[in-house]
Amino acid sequence: MTTAIYPGSFDPVTVGHLDIIKRAAKLFDHVIVAVLVNMEKKPWFTIEERTAFLKQATAEIGGVEIASFDGLLVDFAARCGAQAIVKGLRAVSDFEYEFQMALTNRKLDDSLETVFLTSSAENMYLSSSIVKQVGLFGGDISPFVPACIKDDILTRCRNLPKRVIDSH
Ligand code: PNS
Repeated sequence: MTTAIYPGSFDPVTVGHLDIIKRAAKLFDHVIVAVLVNMEKKPWFTIEERTAFLKQATAEIGGVEIASFDGLLVDFAARCGAQAIVKGLRAVSDFEYEFQMALTNRKLDDSLETVFLTSSAENMYLSSSIVKQVGLFGGDISPFVPACIKDDILTRCRNLPKRVIDSH
């Protein structure tokens, strides 16, 4: 059985992430979407919210599991028995950072391959930061996030703690 990890902060999940998950699920028997718990960049959404959004958004996709992890990705991948890491690439600007991470991960564990899936053309500009900015200022986020979680994300954006808005 082939297992791949699709790691990220998913703060929150976008239709771009969902597109990569669906395509990865066609390539691998088992795709574990792994949400990083402790991020350097402080997340807007809690780990419980980020995983719950992903569970709702992927409920209909076979072979997909949502998990969270802390520490090194390669250690989590080894615990899961994964053979590959899946990453989405939107533009040239993603490449340098992703290449650095892929080479680091290979140095740490050369049995784990990183597989890059190119973003679909319509999602090339999209990021979780865009969703947060538009949601924070009351804009329409429906083109950017899975329909089933749009209202929950908007409610959460409206009720964000003051510290988050101040630091924006
Ligand atoms: O969605 P993001 O924020 O681009 O995801 C980044 C992520 C979670 C893939 C990356 O930060 C990560 O793998 N963190 C775990 C720590 C780790 O293994 N670091 C070494 C690889 S550079």
